[in-house]
Amino acid sequence: MPALVELIGATHRYADVVAVDDVHMALRPGELVFLVGPSGAGKTTLLRLINREIRPSSGEVWVDGLPAHSLRPTRIPELRRRVGVVYQDYKLLPRLTALENVAFALRVTDLQVSDAEAHDRALDALEAVGLGEKADAFPHQLSGGQQQRVAIARAVVRQPPLLIADEPTGNLDLETAWQVMKLLEQISRFGTCVLVATHNLEIVRRMQRRVLTLVDGRLVRDQPAGRVGRLAWASS
Ligand SMILES: Nc1ncnc2c1ncn2[C@@H]1O[C@H](COP(=O)(O)OP(=O)(O)OP(=O)(O)O)[C@@H](O)[C@H]1O
Ligand SMILES: [Mg+2]
Repeated sequence: MPALVELIGATHRYADVVAVDDVHMALRPGELVFLVGPSGAGKTTLLRLINREIRPSSGEVWVDGLPAHSLRPTRIPELRRRVGVVYQDYKLLPRLTALENVAFALRVTDLQVSDAEAHDRALDALEAVGLGEKADAFPHQLSGGQQQRVAIARAVVRQPPLLIADEPTGNLDLETAWQVMKLLEQISRFGTCVLVATHNLEIVRRMQRRVLTLVDGRLVRDQPAGRVGRLAWASS
């Protein structure tokens, strides 16, 4: 199966810091992959390269056949439609209901979608994350875990081939974090490649999925699913 995401010697410098350093990696469709490493290791920078928020200083970043490293700005929306994004702080619009948040995301990225269709698809996505009953709630009326599930529904409503999540459980207690991770795992089972940057090593160990470890911008370890033992980067 061809790679869905491929980095070839990807390097990113911010002024004097080399945040991502000569990374080679490939992700396949339907894989759930964790990205771990100490604070400042380059996890967020790597996700931003994949989403073409930034361009590599050198090397290549391929996403679903598109060259993110050399993509013309006019083609960025084409790439973004293929990548769902989930953040630590949810980033929901506070004045819109859960349903409106999801429907709005669909409409701004695809002007062909009618109001009625956006409504139906948003409701389907909320039901898929177990929040059909909260469709009319505003973000402040939802728990952190529920808000994150709305954000996940928003990210997957167009069924992108890739979902990237930057510390999606960082604001959640362990039990809620576990539920959110199980939801991401379920999404990957439907064929979406899911890449999750996280500090939650307890969950990573329990899930036994592929783990990529970054230290000082370098990919120092790539552990296959089912063989995740020690995760302490100090030992690598
Ligand atoms: N916009 C920026 N300008 C300059 N340096 C930056 C910028 N963003 C990140 N850096 C630096 O790049 C390095 C990698 O940062 P990055 O945010 O990618 O790490 P991270 O692994 O996501 O860390 P954390 O676990 O704390 O979120 C760090 O040294 C950081 O200080
Ligand atoms: Mg980060």
